[in-house]
Amino acid sequence: MALVTGLWASKTLALAHELDLFTHLSGTAGITIEACAAHYRIAHRPAEMLLTACAALRLLERHGEHYGNTPLAETYLVRGRPLYFGGWIAMADRREYPAWLHLKEALHSNRPLTWDPDRQASLFDGEDPALVATFWEAMYALSITTADVLADSVDLSGVTRLLDVGGGGGANDIALCRRHSHLRATVFDLPFVCALTRPKIEQAGLSDRIDLAEGDFFADAALPDGHDAILLSKILLDWKESDCLTILHKCFTALPPGGQIVVTDLFVDDNKDGPVDAALMSLNMLIETWGRNYTAAEYRSWLAAVGFTGLQTIRFEAPAANGAVVGHKPETNTTFRVS
Ligand SMILES: C[S@@+](CC[C@H](N)C(=O)[O-])C[C@H]1O[C@@H](n2cnc3c(N)ncnc32)[C@H](O)[C@@H]1O
Repeated sequence: MALVTGLWASKTLALAHELDLFTHLSGTAGITIEACAAHYRIAHRPAEMLLTACAALRLLERHGEHYGNTPLAETYLVRGRPLYFGGWIAMADRREYPAWLHLKEALHSNRPLTWDPDRQASLFDGEDPALVATFWEAMYALSITTADVLADSVDLSGVTRLLDVGGGGGANDIALCRRHSHLRATVFDLPFVCALTRPKIEQAGLSDRIDLAEGDFFADAALPDGHDAILLSKILLDWKESDCLTILHKCFTALPPGGQIVVTDLFVDDNKDGPVDAALMSLNMLIETWGRNYTAAEYRSWLAAVGFTGLQTIRFEAPAANGAVVGHKPETNTTFRVS
């Protein structure tokens, strides 16, 4: 039953978020069914159903006649809060679920559904500005939930300059720079993404330690140098294997001898029978990209193929990633050919 009705819960959350219900209720003693109906100019019956469903889903809690935010909703669903998750909710609801309804089509065509590969070079070659903003808001929301866990799990104490390749909203850099007072980071991303990221870094008060580098990891001959570590967070799942190897090879070239690489993602288990979040994210990549969620073993073999050594897999639990594969460029500078 839970599997069949998963969409009901998701749509309830998405609608309440779209109505800004949780932001409306923040800091108040809650709302009655009558007041909810009046506020949204809807009938008593759907107002009652919506509030009841939100309470059942632990998004709201009822005190007498009033429904107010739970701590969960207060933390993640109120606009402007540091861990606001709304960007991801909106993207899943507006961009991805319409495509998920046609999953069978993607299964047969083996092509992305959320954009037209005949008209766009990639998912990131977006045309609709509203959709473009939604995507990177979603990435920021998802990554900010995971960045602290990543910072706890991966030892960057010896790193002074981090290059975050495809760094998006900079959520990981913000968390990592807060954790390590000696660290400086560079978000490398497409020019229009850097423009969206700049305000996030300013809001975090880290403009003096996080730089933005505009570029394209396929079109540019090389990635920026001068960094002793590179982070690839939720990057390789977007691309087919040959593209992943191209990106990894450029990372290897950009690092100095001894430089560190960190690849983090929702890894599918090596035996490919789970876990659920990674396996379903992988199907999400079927409707969104030419990639899929890879296993840690696949990443280790590609990293070894481009020349990284001392490969280690670190496991952790977080919404946007469940591990990291870490490696180093050998001190003696050997380059490997990628076919
Ligand atoms: C799934 S998002 C991950 C963002 C970020 N690393 C995170 O973990 O939140 C993929 C990122 O890759 C960036 N990207 C895609 N194609 C790129 C390219 N050709 N060059 C540089 N960045 C690119 C996108 O703009 C986006 O920010």
